[in-house]
Amino acid sequence: MNIVSVENLNLTYEEKGNKNHILKDISFEVEKGEILGIVGLSGAGKTSLLRTLNLLHKPDNGKIIFEQEDITKLNEKTVIPIRKKIGVVFQHFNLFRNKNVYNNIAFPLLLEKIDKEEIKKRVEKIADEIGLTERLNAYPSQLSGGEQQRVGIARSIITNPDLILLDEPTSALDPMITKIILDLVLDISIKRGLTIITVTHDMDVVKRICDKVAYLKKGTLSFFGETHEFFASLTTKEVSEFENEFLTDFEKIKKRESDEKKFIRVVFWGANTHESVIWDTAKDMDINVNILYGKIEELKKGPFGSLILEISGKQSMNFIKNLKEKVYYLEVI
Ligand SMILES: Nc1ncnc2c1ncn2[C@@H]1O[C@H](COP(=O)(O)OP(=O)(O)OP(=O)(O)O)[C@@H](O)[C@H]1O
Ligand SMILES: [Mg+2]
Repeated sequence: MNIVSVENLNLTYEEKGNKNHILKDISFEVEKGEILGIVGLSGAGKTSLLRTLNLLHKPDNGKIIFEQEDITKLNEKTVIPIRKKIGVVFQHFNLFRNKNVYNNIAFPLLLEKIDKEEIKKRVEKIADEIGLTERLNAYPSQLSGGEQQRVGIARSIITNPDLILLDEPTSALDPMITKIILDLVLDISIKRGLTIITVTHDMDVVKRICDKVAYLKKGTLSFFGETHEFFASLTTKEVSEFENEFLTDFEKIKKRESDEKKFIRVVFWGANTHESVIWDTAKDMDINVNILYGKIEELKKGPFGSLILEISGKQSMNFIKNLKEKVYYLEVI
């Protein structure tokens, strides 16, 4: 069941009389319990989209159906109960500097004038769940980036929302802390059946936790679908924009120009990722196959392999044709 459906959403910012069309006809849906990653280059409109979903920016037109209700129709007053069901963690934590961890986490409940004992119970439970029990009396300036991020997450889930919106949850964190935060986000999503929409630059975030991906290019949704389809659909140029390691390898490959050699990119997905499909296909053919680049990664829903092969020999085209039928995706590059 869809928890959020976005239909033909447009957003324009006005600055000094100039109109900037930022989000262009965006449509997608998120199912309950899913984690959606919003990716794209800097300035593509990711934060704007996230803020529009929470009506912090009012769209020019289009619909945002949240739990069967078009929330773009609501006013300042009628939106309040909806906001309680949508937790938000902004790009730079946004903690209250003059409040300790306990009061930062408790803040949304204090606003609701909930009983003190009940607040204490809930804050302590969440602090325990996300490993902050020892730090409840500390102030934000005394916390590491990873701890501040955890406080932000705790504050966003204390009201038991149905959806949380995260903006770059792991930027400025080292790989070790990133892993801890991502495990925490996954754990929360599973235990609480929470739906999560997260903006990220980090492809590791997408690989580890996202079921689906929305890829924004200059305000247009250029891809929406399953995570493995996203990685398969990227052009080699786009892969190199997202992943540095790939860039160096690919540039090297491009330099080895040769008429009789063919270069292909092959993607494996799911059960046959570990099979020796390539060697089986090449076995009785008069060809040479070199693996120039290869990587198998664990996505949230299964293994995903990508390879770049250099092929030469009379039967190259035959080999490519046969291999194409056995793999998830193949392109001649
Ligand atoms: N409040 C605003 N008023 C006017 N223009 C804005 C406003 N907020 C963002 N913009 C512009 O809208 C475009 C998209 O910005 P946005 O913050 O959504 O990008 P982003 O994809 O989140 O980028 P980053 O990855 O750098 O965080 C940018 O060109 C930005 O300058
Ligand atoms: Mg942003």
